[in-house]
Amino acid sequence: MIKKTILSGIQPSGNLCIGNYLGAIKQWEQMQDDYESIFLVVDMHSITTKQLPADLRSRCLSFVAQYIACGIDPNKSNIIIQSHIPQHAELMWVLSCFTYQGELSRMTQYKSKSKNLKNINAGLFTYPILMAADILLYQADLVPVGSDQKQHLELCRDIALRFNNKFSETFKIPEPFIPKNGARIMSLQNPTDKMSKSDVNLNSIISLLDEPNIVRKKINRSVTDSGSKVVYNQKDKPGLSNLINIYKSLSNESADYIENRYKGKMYSDFKSDLSDLIIDTLSPIKLEYDYLIKNKDYLLKILKDGTDYGYKKSQNTISKVYRKIGFVPRVR
Ligand code: TRP
Repeated sequence: MIKKTILSGIQPSGNLCIGNYLGAIKQWEQMQDDYESIFLVVDMHSITTKQLPADLRSRCLSFVAQYIACGIDPNKSNIIIQSHIPQHAELMWVLSCFTYQGELSRMTQYKSKSKNLKNINAGLFTYPILMAADILLYQADLVPVGSDQKQHLELCRDIALRFNNKFSETFKIPEPFIPKNGARIMSLQNPTDKMSKSDVNLNSIISLLDEPNIVRKKINRSVTDSGSKVVYNQKDKPGLSNLINIYKSLSNESADYIENRYKGKMYSDFKSDLSDLIIDTLSPIKLEYDYLIKNKDYLLKILKDGTDYGYKKSQNTISKVYRKIGFVPRVR
């Protein structure tokens, strides 16, 4: 049986955090046996906001090492840096001629990101078209994303359907895959906001590469709510509930079970155990990462394999697209 294709990606801005791990990479790891898998480091997306070139360069390689350290197996999955495949940009241009300004201005992520910026670059506005190109280029069936990306995926489907209707079947129409047990981890300081790796307040996030003492400090300082009982109540106790969600995802236990265990105990008992749990999860990842990041040749080999695979797949799609819209085939 032909395996279905899954595709997802993360922007190399900031350090990968447990929000990325529990909400995305851990799910990818569990899916890679059953699907043809493509995991992108979307560096082209990340330059929609300010990046320091040297940092961006080292962060991309670091992300590849972290994907692998988290269990993405290069023998099963394809890891690709977006800018290594020129077809992403090529397809994006074509798709941008089939996307309406009105559609882009309705994107909530654009609206909220552009609110705080003085100079809004065009890339921030057309960002969802590049994301659509990422997905459609590889004819992905399923796209595991957090709920904040659902609107972008809807737009991707609309663009693909529009193109297919105009020029005959060209793109597979992708489905969003919002993992059932994929936790949405919130900021440790503002538990109503998503934990974001680009948060300037480092106390809000636990990075995958944080040392144990840092993990403990951040959990101890995390915002909890008034009261002292460890009870799960998303509405009245968003801070504590977020910590319970992290605990749940790491231990695979239910909230009820966790509440029971901490009956009669204090927040500090719970926080101390949670820190242990996080440290136990991150330690082997960090160990593997430290080994991988020193083996640059190995990482480059993985990227070469990913690029070879991705180039073939995406060239297939782009030549179909160019033919259908009436471009003269290139003479080789
Ligand atoms: N926009 C996504 C995010 O910020 C990242 C992304 C880029 C992506 N291209 C993608 C996710 C393709 C899934 C598929 O989370």
